[in-house]
Amino acid sequence: MAMFDKLLANLKASKKTIVFTEGTDARILSAADRLLKEDLMGVILCGAPDDVRKAAADGGFNVDKAEIIDPLAYDGSEEMVKTMAELRKGKMTEDECRDLLKKSNYFGTMLVKMGKADALLGGATYSTADTVRPALQIVKTKKGSSLVSSSFILFREKDGKEETIAMGDCAINLSYSDKLDKEGNVVQTAAQQLGEVAVETARTAAFFGIDPKVAVLSFSTYGSGKGGTVQLSHDAVIEARKIDPELVIDGEFQFDAAVSAEVAKTKCPDSKVAGQANTFIFPLIEAGNIGYKIAQRLGGYEAYGPILQGLNAPINDLSRGCNADEVYKMAIITAGMA
Ligand SMILES: CC(C)(COP(=O)(O)OP(=O)(O)OC[C@H]1O[C@@H](n2cnc3c(N)ncnc32)[C@H](O)[C@@H]1OP(=O)(O)O)[C@@H](O)C(=O)NCCC(=O)NCCS
Repeated sequence: MAMFDKLLANLKASKKTIVFTEGTDARILSAADRLLKEDLMGVILCGAPDDVRKAAADGGFNVDKAEIIDPLAYDGSEEMVKTMAELRKGKMTEDECRDLLKKSNYFGTMLVKMGKADALLGGATYSTADTVRPALQIVKTKKGSSLVSSSFILFREKDGKEETIAMGDCAINLSYSDKLDKEGNVVQTAAQQLGEVAVETARTAAFFGIDPKVAVLSFSTYGSGKGGTVQLSHDAVIEARKIDPELVIDGEFQFDAAVSAEVAKTKCPDSKVAGQANTFIFPLIEAGNIGYKIAQRLGGYEAYGPILQGLNAPINDLSRGCNADEVYKMAIITAGMA
């Protein structure tokens, strides 16, 4: 698949180290075995060494070249506690950090923060919230970003052609509302946030070889409907254009107007995006999460993600229903982004 070529080239150009938070999970061990055999990246497995080795032996996986680190018996644990408490100053005490660092989601995130690993992949057993929260609290947003969001990259082969599309944010931000300061003044509008998600999703799409044509979705096309989040989707287009005037973006669109040239001809004939969109922005997580799963289950697309965007380091989440092949591919994506 073309989109993996660039990532593999990145990995070959400079070897990265990935930390897996669930080091005893058979799917993680199977993927780690394959990644090590192919010499694609260094691997850190979190867990008690005896437990990890037993699970690997039980599954017939060779992870001899992986570094196994037990969060409960880590040599540098006091330094890690102090660093985390400093980062969480005023929000967590040293004791709270010490407790949290016994869990591999926080521990693994601190390995990335402290430069011991370049990337993290978790969520084979942790929920999305438990995988993402430590990253939000410790790694935080990268310079120039005000929020973390996510994309799914969806891929299928149809009629001998590769089709790749992007969807965001289907996994992180529950909804968008104006952010207020202590005096109640609006410091960032909901539309500015969704506009930023659109720009970040387009950047992720471009990273995966898509030439992004971004549609901000709704149940309305160019004001045909009122209420709900119609205004939000409409205003997000304006805000995204302010952030990146070069971005090819339009909306608000119903999904059919976004993808069907026929429908676009009737509903919005002058749009440069309608009828040919390949990057889709959802105004609410419900629509996004349901939407990408429909594409995956009924549309025959393979779904990769959620790929976090706006974070200061590559940290990604797995679906708890993932298989070993998906872990392997997400590891390539995650380390390849480092
Ligand atoms: C991501 C998520 C876990 C964050 O929720 P939370 O932990 O309750 O968040 P909080 O509001 O307590 O914030 C925790 C910290 O993260 C930060 N944060 C929360 N959301 C953020 C975002 N989108 N971008 C950047 N920072 C964010 C907060 O500012 C806060 O930082 P601070 O502690 O330094 O002040 C939550 O939005 C969520 O559950 N999303 C849906 C996940 C899911 O189930 N997806 C579907 C499966 S794919």
